[in-house]
Amino acid sequence: MNFNELVHHRYSVRAYKPDAVEQEKLDLLLRAFQAAPTAANRQPFRLYVIETEKYKAELQQLYNRDWFVQAPLVFGVVAVNDEAWIRRDGVNYAMVDATIAFDHLILQAAELGLGTCWIAAFDPTAARQLLHLPANWTPVAFTPVGYPADEIKPKKRRQLVELIIYHSEQP
Ligand SMILES: Cc1cc2nc3c(=O)[nH]c(=O)nc-3n(C[C@H](O)[C@H](O)[C@H](O)COP(=O)(O)O)c2cc1C
Repeated sequence: MNFNELVHHRYSVRAYKPDAVEQEKLDLLLRAFQAAPTAANRQPFRLYVIETEKYKAELQQLYNRDWFVQAPLVFGVVAVNDEAWIRRDGVNYAMVDATIAFDHLILQAAELGLGTCWIAAFDPTAARQLLHLPANWTPVAFTPVGYPADEIKPKKRRQLVELIIYHSEQP
């Protein structure tokens, strides 16, 4: 699968098989996460790898959907704000860096035939409790990781004409 095929092939998987994820594939996911670029190369984040079976009740508190706990693993990315590069106007890039790294992992998963689904609508208090997060660490996103039990649906996207602004054509 080339990159173009990959970006069109990835979709939000909302049904999973219970099958285990092979260690070699897990290693590739973690390496893809590690390889991501970050502002000033600070890598201001941590990735939590959670075994679903061990924390099913806590994970359901975090995001109450049956499919969230169907896969054998759930990953969570957490931004470590005081390790991040900060722009001169004060904008902290920890969440941007964490998001890029998580997306590397998600695209790598798709290439390996694994399913994922970005989840931002989780309960942050439940996430903090489960992961014992310090106050200045921000949970950014979670995803199940496992084999899909559903199929890709046609993608709904805005037209390019709406999304892209060629600045030279501005009034
Ligand atoms: C930052 C982010 C947060 C998201 N949060 C959720 C979520 O909490 N629950 C959910 O079911 N899907 C969530 N999604 C998945 C989106 O709904 C999905 O990516 C979008 O509808 C496009 O569909 P596709 O991923 O299948 O291409 C999220 C996606 C992103 C990028």
